Amino acid sequence: MPHISRLADNLPQSAIRALTPFAEKAEADGVKVYHLNIGAPDIKSPQVVVDAVHNYKFDHLPYSNSLGTRELRQGFLDKYYNKLGLHLSMEDILVTTAGSEALDFFFQITTNPGEEVIVFEPFYVNYNSIALKYGIKLVPIHTDIREGFRLPPVQEIEKAVTPRTRAVLISNPSNPTGTVFDKQELLAIAGICRKYDLFLGSDEVYREFCYSDKPIFSVMEIDDFDQYAIMLDSVSKRYNLCGARIGTIISRNKEVMSLGLRLAQARLCPPVLAQAATLAALDAPESYFEETRSEYIRRRNFTVAALNRIPGVFSPMPNGAFYTIAELPVENAADFCRWLLTDFRLDNQTVMLTPAAGFYGTKGQGLNQVRVAYVLEVPELEKAMAVLENALKKYNNK
Ligand SMILES: Cc1ncc(COP(=O)(O)O)c(C=O)c1O
Repeated sequence: MPHISRLADNLPQSAIRALTPFAEKAEADGVKVYHLNIGAPDIKSPQVVVDAVHNYKFDHLPYSNSLGTRELRQGFLDKYYNKLGLHLSMEDILVTTAGSEALDFFFQITTNPGEEVIVFEPFYVNYNSIALKYGIKLVPIHTDIREGFRLPPVQEIEKAVTPRTRAVLISNPSNPTGTVFDKQELLAIAGICRKYDLFLGSDEVYREFCYSDKPIFSVMEIDDFDQYAIMLDSVSKRYNLCGARIGTIISRNKEVMSLGLRLAQARLCPPVLAQAATLAALDAPESYFEETRSEYIRRRNFTVAALNRIPGVFSPMPNGAFYTIAELPVENAADFCRWLLTDFRLDNQTVMLTPAAGFYGTKGQGLNQVRVAYVLEVPELEKAMAVLENALKKYNNK
């Protein structure tokens, strides 16, 4: 028998997808399942993208430059990043096969096998999968639901730095918590990165999904920080183009970008048709983002209020992305989430949630928490919350 590698065998199953077979079984049995488990929203892509794809003419699809097409890189700068005041030049941007590849490059560029990257738990599960793939250790620093998942004081973060630490990675706004870290928090981490010579990776794939009156403070806005800052971005969420698979890795550090180019060349190029679609997306009117944001604010306000009305449930009020973490009056949320799919029905409906323990690096954390993705319209969310309330009642009286 040939052996499979330890690298692949060590990879955990995605916490987000682990319950999928149970949901599929319920759906096959004719049950309506409200999917609040995954960040795949129902919002339409901008019409300019739909039109561009319809009108796309080609008789073959050649590779593009490994960095992405010049038009798209220039378009990203002129029509997006520099309009936001980030002052980037063409050397600072590389088009990736979505945020996932940007993250993959980030780990490979910054950290050797056996070395460490500091993250704040709960964190996006694929940080763990990618780190494991390269033999990199994630060092989680706890953030607490009762404190809205804000960052701990600098001294606490500093305690996690060891001689093997190479980088800090944050998700801002955060998946899974929806927390938006502010300028002070970013500057505090930047101070640590300067002091210990660490890269600061900022995963800003939800950067347009900010519900306070100010936009997010980007890692690329930190003064005198060019050697440390690496931004990871994606069009998946911003334009509802998850299937396009286009993102960017951005840094003013020349060595980082030179390594990025070599990694990019090793995979030839990002998808060419999707690059054309993304170029069109950059012409989406500002009203597209405004409407999307208002819709998410409605959904968030409804969901968080509905969750907190259920006896024993607590959710903080997140101000970004489209997720919230809620504490449930159950001991083991993973068991409850599975039971929802296998056993519970309210008028032939149920709800799919993601157990939050998989977002924590520390064993035993988040056991009674779930991540709720408010990616459905309010009337659907209303039904989903009614299902959840009834389910909790029944579960706790079993
Ligand atoms: C925080 C975060 N980063 C990166 C990604 C990767 O997304 P994509 O590869 O579609 O750009 C996701 C997807 O859900 C995410 O939530």
